[in-house]
Amino acid sequence: MWILGQTLAVFCLASQAVLAVNFDFEKITLSDAEVKGNQHVDFGKLPVPAVNKARCKTYASDRQWPSVGIWSAFNKSVGGALLRGIPPAAACYEGPYYNLTKCDVVRRVQGSTNFTKADPTIPNGQWQLGNPCPVPPISNPTLYSCNITAFPAYVLNVTTVKQIQLAVNFARNYNIRLTIKNTGHDFLGRNTGGGALQIWMHNLKQLEYMPEYKFGNYSGKAARVTAALEQFELHQYMTQHNMTLLAPGSTTVGAYGGYMQGGGFSTMVSSKLGLMSDQVLSLEVVTADGRFVHADPYENEDLFWAIRGGGPGNFGIVTSAIVKAHDTMPIAQGQVYWQTNPVINPATAPYNVQVNDTAFWAGIDIWFAWLPRITAAGGVGWNYIDTIAPSRNSSRTYQHRSQINLPAMTKAEAEAFLAPIIKELNAVGLPLKVYVDWFETYPKQAFRIQGPGEGVTNGRFGSRLFPRKNLEDKNSTLFKKTIASIRAFVEEGGYNFHSVDFTPTKEVAGWPGSDSAANPHLRNAIIHATGFDTNSYGPEVSPADQIKNHARLNEYVNKWREASPGAGAYMNEADTEEPDFQWSFYGENYEKLEKIKEERDPWELFYAVTMVGSEKWMVEDTQGLPTQQGRLCRVQGK
Ligand SMILES: Cc1cc2nc3c(=O)[nH]c(=O)nc-3n(C[C@H](O)[C@H](O)[C@H](O)COP(=O)(O)OP(=O)(O)OC[C@H]3O[C@@H](n4cnc5c(N)ncnc54)[C@H](O)[C@@H]3O)c2cc1C
Ligand SMILES: *[C@@H]1O[C@H](CO)[C@@H](O)[C@H](O)[C@H]1NC(C)=O
Ligand SMILES: *[C@@H]1O[C@H](CO)[C@@H](O)[C@H](O)[C@H]1NC(C)=O
Ligand SMILES: *[C@@H]1O[C@H](CO)[C@@H](O)[C@H](O)[C@H]1NC(C)=O
Ligand SMILES: *[C@@H]1O[C@H](CO)[C@@H](O)[C@H](O)[C@H]1NC(C)=O
Ligand SMILES: *[C@@H]1O[C@H](CO)[C@@H](O)[C@H](O)[C@H]1NC(C)=O
Ligand SMILES: *[C@@H]1O[C@H](CO)[C@@H](O)[C@H](O)[C@H]1NC(C)=O
Ligand SMILES: *[C@@H]1O[C@H](CO)[C@@H](O)[C@H](O)[C@H]1NC(C)=O
Ligand SMILES: *[C@@H]1O[C@H](CO)[C@@H](O)[C@H](O)[C@H]1NC(C)=O
Ligand SMILES: *[C@@H]1O[C@H](CO)[C@@H](O)[C@H](O)[C@H]1NC(C)=O
Ligand SMILES: *[C@@H]1O[C@H](CO)[C@@H](O)[C@H](O)[C@H]1NC(C)=O
Repeated sequence: MWILGQTLAVFCLASQAVLAVNFDFEKITLSDAEVKGNQHVDFGKLPVPAVNKARCKTYASDRQWPSVGIWSAFNKSVGGALLRGIPPAAACYEGPYYNLTKCDVVRRVQGSTNFTKADPTIPNGQWQLGNPCPVPPISNPTLYSCNITAFPAYVLNVTTVKQIQLAVNFARNYNIRLTIKNTGHDFLGRNTGGGALQIWMHNLKQLEYMPEYKFGNYSGKAARVTAALEQFELHQYMTQHNMTLLAPGSTTVGAYGGYMQGGGFSTMVSSKLGLMSDQVLSLEVVTADGRFVHADPYENEDLFWAIRGGGPGNFGIVTSAIVKAHDTMPIAQGQVYWQTNPVINPATAPYNVQVNDTAFWAGIDIWFAWLPRITAAGGVGWNYIDTIAPSRNSSRTYQHRSQINLPAMTKAEAEAFLAPIIKELNAVGLPLKVYVDWFETYPKQAFRIQGPGEGVTNGRFGSRLFPRKNLEDKNSTLFKKTIASIRAFVEEGGYNFHSVDFTPTKEVAGWPGSDSAANPHLRNAIIHATGFDTNSYGPEVSPADQIKNHARLNEYVNKWREASPGAGAYMNEADTEEPDFQWSFYGENYEKLEKIKEERDPWELFYAVTMVGSEKWMVEDTQGLPTQQGRLCRVQGK
């Protein structure tokens, strides 16, 4: 057993060292004196100790795994904030967690991100863990089993920086896998891992508005923000303080965790204000050695550069940031829908028309050819091309739904802007009219169709960032190849296509955003294409079928890749098995990021699939699926 030797005097001295932090919870930090000589939680040291060079991370069944007594002492040191990693659906299975009342609750709410974000253990998508504890159907309660070993072993519910530091030190010193969960929205499985100590950021929620802030080359409105704020909370703060912040498109997505650190685009303003990572002026970070540091363009510049877009949770744990805030701006929203069967949704009738197949695809050509002009005007396009599978082969419906979001335009300006687009669509037989919704401010726009809380999905998809040059000339073979690859995805593949179309260029990013690790492919992009596989990857689908379904999807995503040689994909909305992820997600930044990773984390504490350096590691699995359950080990020879 051990406890932290803490004396009040030492604690106060240590706190004085950190003056410029953003929030009170960041003043509660770990001092050298508290942990000196304490092997369990002392700060990281060089040379890298032998324990961190082991082939695999220490796993629960290993001899080196901390004893119950050591975990209990760790729990005391963090003020009792340690939880066991128990998935809520364990209540549905006989054993120590059996509770049918709870199981019924879980059954009812499991489909909402409201529930998954507020659970310490489970991520939204569970195929990434091999669906190890599904909620069994009422009709067949013994259909599945619950394997608790596949989840993080412990979860630390953090409310102070000191707890994060202790967790980082403990995990590193014992060579235990560390995972970070914010909202759990991640599509790739970067937020979870079997047998890990998981840091749960969800309760760090504060914002301080600063109407006048000068820093470096920036002068204007700003906000101090904590790591766990979600989109709907930012929308409330924007309204309260009459300002605009960049934010994700869905209500419960975390703004400054995975979203910001992977780049983060806005479906409303990214052609005008850039990426979320471009908004950041400074960061507070717990690094792999357990230290709590400030990072900005003049201090810990390497960390500041890498965290902004260079991949979440791989260079440090962000506790808060200072971000740019902007004047409020209206959003004008053009709607254009067309489909190949009669319009039955009365809500879309004012801007939705029925057309034949020829006109349908002629309209698609026109819509994509307009994108360079839409984004040049500061707009963002957003569309779906759905294919609704026929009950009879002849009645397949194609539906195109799109919004053209034009920030800072009046309704009349937006109508004038859309008129020539509609005219061109009319000319090929789409009897559309100009239709614009106008919102006084960005958070007032009507994008939140589902209200707070999105549906949890257990599917996979692929994605591609098509460069601007692909759309610049409608007559070019490149343009034709691009559209052909999208059509093949929908018509032959039978998949639904989605894209968000924006131009977060370096010019738009400004200072200091233009000099960051954000994927260079995003800077040249115009279409962020995503393709959904509507097949489930849930427990009812065998591993062999999951592999087959993914291979089929990938065949069609490959057509996008062929139509955009040398381009990449957006790491936050991508395939876990993206080919050559190093080039695709990081472009020419990869080498520099690799160097920073080696310098900042020589213990190889932080790992997440597809992050910089992750090619050296692999989760051992026997079913041939990409998964985060199981033991994390070094790949032989790397
Ligand atoms: C419904 C939905 C809508 C989306 N809309 C958009 C969109 O409009 N634009 C867009 O760009 N993306 C969007 N995304 C993708 C989104 O960017 C990613 O899912 C992202 O990983 C979410 O980050 P999170 O922190 O909320 O989630 P989590 O899954 O909790 O974490 C994601 C990753 O970030 C790491 N992480 C979390 N917090 C921290 C921290 N404080 N410090 C260090 N690492 C941390 C985790 O370890 C993990 O690797 C959407 C996703 C969903 C599910
Ligand atoms: C940690 O301590 C708290 C408070 O004593 C206790 O409620 C909790 O169960 C402990 N956690 C673990 C994993 O034992
Ligand atoms: C079972 O779950 C319900 C609902 O979560 C809870 O109120 C109750 O206390 C639990 N019962 C036991 C015995 O833990
Ligand atoms: C996490 O910590 C917060 C703050 O102490 C507390 O309100 C909350 O109940 C805790 N959550 C869980 C699941 O223990
Ligand atoms: C930032 O300001 C400095 C000093 O005023 C100037 O030299 C530099 O060019 C500016 N950098 C950018 C990227 O605007
Ligand atoms: C909000 O900000 C806008 C843009 O700066 C300004 O025009 C408007 O008057 C402000 N509204 C209020 C209520 O302060
Ligand atoms: C559906 O129609 C296509 C094209 O007409 C045809 O090639 C295909 O065989 C049909 N499929 C079925 C299941 O009838
Ligand atoms: C499809 O619709 C267009 C526009 O109304 C029309 O010109 C064309 O003849 C139609 N084609 C077919 C095959 O019906
Ligand atoms: C999610 O929570 C919000 C706010 O608490 C609530 O308004 C919404 O209805 C919930 N959504 C679902 C799907 O439960
Ligand atoms: C594309 O081809 C059309 C029809 O041949 C022609 O009118 C148009 O000018 C061409 N556009 C460009 C950009 O070359
Ligand atoms: C539970 O998951 C662990 C980790 O992946 C694995 O080693 C073990 O075989 C699984 N147990 C069962 C019964 O499937």
